[in-house]
Amino acid sequence: MYVAELRSWLSAPNPNRFPYKTVVHAYHSVGKHFVPTDLLELLGEARTALPEISGPWPWLRTLAAFLDTALDKPDKRYEYPTYLALPLLELPTTDDPVEYAPYARSRCDRRIAQLVTDVLAFELAALDGMTTLLPMMRPAPELVVKRCRHGLRAIQPTLARMGLNIEPMAGGAIEQARDICALVRADMSFGERHSIDLSILPVYTVHDEYLFLRVLQAFETMFALLATHLRGAVTALAVGEIDRAVSFITSSTATLRQTAPLFSMLATMQIESFRTFRQFTDGASAIQSRNYKFVESLCRKPDVERVDSPAYLSVPEVRDRLMAGQQVTLDDAYTRALRSSDLAEPEHARLTEAMADFSAALLRWRTTHYRLAVRMLGNATGTGYTEGTPYLAAVRTIPVFGTVDAISETIPDSTTADRIVNL
Ligand code: HEM
Repeated sequence: MYVAELRSWLSAPNPNRFPYKTVVHAYHSVGKHFVPTDLLELLGEARTALPEISGPWPWLRTLAAFLDTALDKPDKRYEYPTYLALPLLELPTTDDPVEYAPYARSRCDRRIAQLVTDVLAFELAALDGMTTLLPMMRPAPELVVKRCRHGLRAIQPTLARMGLNIEPMAGGAIEQARDICALVRADMSFGERHSIDLSILPVYTVHDEYLFLRVLQAFETMFALLATHLRGAVTALAVGEIDRAVSFITSSTATLRQTAPLFSMLATMQIESFRTFRQFTDGASAIQSRNYKFVESLCRKPDVERVDSPAYLSVPEVRDRLMAGQQVTLDDAYTRALRSSDLAEPEHARLTEAMADFSAALLRWRTTHYRLAVRMLGNATGTGYTEGTPYLAAVRTIPVFGTVDAISETIPDSTTADRIVNL
């Protein structure tokens, strides 16, 4: 069916008539790793036709982003950002004017709510026997209940800010998830729905890969927001707006903490399922997350050994900026603010506390991530070509700031992290 539809489209290419539904269906029925060559060739022709196609710019941009994601494996460009279809999610970037920082929050809130409810809707459809999508290794109903519970908990603060509040656990988690999924879907614009529907191209047909992809996308959205807010904090400090800087840092800390239940949600992934689809994800690893490294390098200048290690060699754009010395860090801005005579003692204390608290939250995030990786991977190596969990064990305690230590009473311990990822 896709051959006829794509040939017909190629005879009069119009970006808003592209047969997305048929193409996505063909990808979903085998997984991105196994897409037949004739389909890849037709999509390659569609991409070649792109520069000659006229039509509304947003439609063209969406089509280009979709093809970028769909053709990454045959192009041998497959990596974390294309696996996650990040261009389709249109997240804030570090090139956005810093004045937009206050608006990034609502944009990211909407995306996180959409991503999490989309995976819950998939879980519910599979539970009800209403979908044949990714049919391998379906989870047991009890696991679906847990996913709903953790997913709802992770987006509760987000929903509240969107004015879509829910009473905590008023009904059963399943019923509540049904309501929230319908509410969030109804609140989405056509463009938002379109990008959500196109941004899920699993490599195989195992049910749990949907969860894995959506949780990674939600965290990636969170890091994009953190990077934007930390840039906002650096800029605010540079002009002496301490309260504004503190507010950006505090909201970043809250975001990091509030999204922790996403780790619990991901911990419900069946280990066998993960090990099955992971055979086809080699080359895509979150070590390639640009936003995570932007966050890290906005806090302080990373040590030379780290800049020259896989951590930064995997994110060349971020590394290039660092090497060019373009980035002012929170450490730099804090030191300058202290040296200037106009930082009063109470402001100094508030700023230091906000940074120490952020530091503790990020260290906790790393510990929880490490625990989850141990649980899922065992001794296997990472898809980002590190030795796997030993790499994570070594990097998880790297100080977040050079100037301010984490608040000691909230320094993460293994017990807390274990609680989050253990079922
Ligand atoms: C099944 C769950 C997960 C496993 C087994 C896992 C495993 C790993 C491993 C082994 C690495 C080291 C690099 C490599 O060789 O690939 C890594 C790095 C990383 N992972 Fe995960 N991960 C998981 C989930 C997540 C999630 C949900 C996120 C959220 C975005 C995430 C973010 C990161 C980041 C940012 C790094 C880079 C850390 C650094 O370079 O310091 N991971 N992960």
